[in-house]
Amino acid sequence: MNPTGEGDVHGGQPYAGSEPDPHLGEVLVSTEALQRRVGELGRQITSDYTGRPPLLVGVLKGACFFLSDLARAIRLPLEMDFMAISSYGSSTRTSGVVRIVKDLDTDLTGRHVLIVEDIVDSGLTLAYLRRNLAARHPSSLEVVALLVKEGLQAHDLDFAYEGFRIPPHFVVGYGLDIAERYRNLPYVAVYREQAGGTTGILTGP
Ligand code: IMP
Ligand code: MG
Repeated sequence: MNPTGEGDVHGGQPYAGSEPDPHLGEVLVSTEALQRRVGELGRQITSDYTGRPPLLVGVLKGACFFLSDLARAIRLPLEMDFMAISSYGSSTRTSGVVRIVKDLDTDLTGRHVLIVEDIVDSGLTLAYLRRNLAARHPSSLEVVALLVKEGLQAHDLDFAYEGFRIPPHFVVGYGLDIAERYRNLPYVAVYREQAGGTTGILTGP
């Protein structure tokens, strides 16, 4: 079953005038589902953070569209900052070794920090980020993750806010890329490693 209830749509022709792209598979989260869920998260965060405006910390580049849509759905005088991290390893798998490429400009002391993440796969990136930011003495530290892959996290990461649970496929769109491609697709679709193959499920390490 499609986890978003949006039905199967084929995203194989991603851009105007483009050839069908055999690497693009099923649309897992449609534009409409993204808009609806981001609106819900915004309302929930607005009510939870009233009286203590959050500092949204976006993780570049993947979270850029999610953060900009989410920020506009939160009716509070929030602030935004960004960090960039890079993980070593192959293009479709996280190694767990993370390096800060661009750090925050903001002092987190006493702030209500809300980490905005695009997708949680193994959870290693987020675990690292949480530890790193917690050490900077924020008043509170929570996570909003748009997508969480089912069953891959070693520990239950216990997010305050979560957009969608998705099957453990490699996905692209709405900020997510493979080798910097497909970020501007307005939906989230399965990326098929084998063009024309039947599945986007990654096997092996
Ligand atoms: P984790 O450390 O295994 O949880 O991986 C998290 C990071 O890997 C995300 O912030 C993404 O940058 C990247 N990533 C994981 N899965 C995907 C995917 O399916 N598509 C695109 N990027 C992904
Ligand atoms: Mg990321």
